[in-house]
Amino acid sequence: MARSKSSGNWVREHEEDKYVKLARKDGYRSRASYKLIEIQERYKIIRPGMRIVDLGAAPGGWSQVAIKEMRSNGRVYGLDLLPIKPINGMTRIQGDFTENEVLQRLLDELKGQKIDLVISDMAPNLSGMKEIDQPRMVCLMELALEFAGSMLKQGGSFLVKGFQGEGIDNFRQAMKLMFATVKTCKPKASRARSREFYLLGCGMK
Ligand SMILES: C[S@@+](CC[C@H](N)C(=O)[O-])C[C@H]1O[C@@H](n2cnc3c(N)ncnc32)[C@H](O)[C@@H]1O
Repeated sequence: MARSKSSGNWVREHEEDKYVKLARKDGYRSRASYKLIEIQERYKIIRPGMRIVDLGAAPGGWSQVAIKEMRSNGRVYGLDLLPIKPINGMTRIQGDFTENEVLQRLLDELKGQKIDLVISDMAPNLSGMKEIDQPRMVCLMELALEFAGSMLKQGGSFLVKGFQGEGIDNFRQAMKLMFATVKTCKPKASRARSREFYLLGCGMK
């Protein structure tokens, strides 16, 4: 099947990307791993012994980083619409994290234990139209924040991906009500031309 010019450009850019090459060399499943590695180097949010929920975990790059940083002493609960190949130290739950049935499967796994850290690299299916994608993204972020509010222990942390634009100021304010500190991060592995960035809330009140 003939490839469009833009998909051909994407494949070429992907193949030449420094973080794609690094991920292959280091055995990470996605270039996204390096975004979490950089945030971890700066803020030390992952520590041994933690219970971490990874929202939108597929294919598993962030979960791999989290398990490595915990030196295999801890557990990651990875939720995604898509299947994830097994990773030692990870419990995989396939489905939409907003659905009660999926939430119940997670609660059954947790057996009453609270979570130390929620990380979310989720994004909605993108249409390429900002007017449609931005509200969808903010909606996903709000659902992830609500999830974090109900799952985290006091003092817990929440890392969430966003797109700069409408609705983000209000979202940041909502995070400030819930967390002692809220920081904005734009890791080097996040492409400069992308509106993608991350918000990190630490010390859930
Ligand atoms: C950018 S990828 C995550 C990459 C991952 N952090 C890694 O390093 O491998 C975003 C993921 O969010 C998932 N996602 C989006 N909405 C979701 C939802 N409502 N419930 C569960 N997963 C969702 C998508 O299926 C997709 O796999």
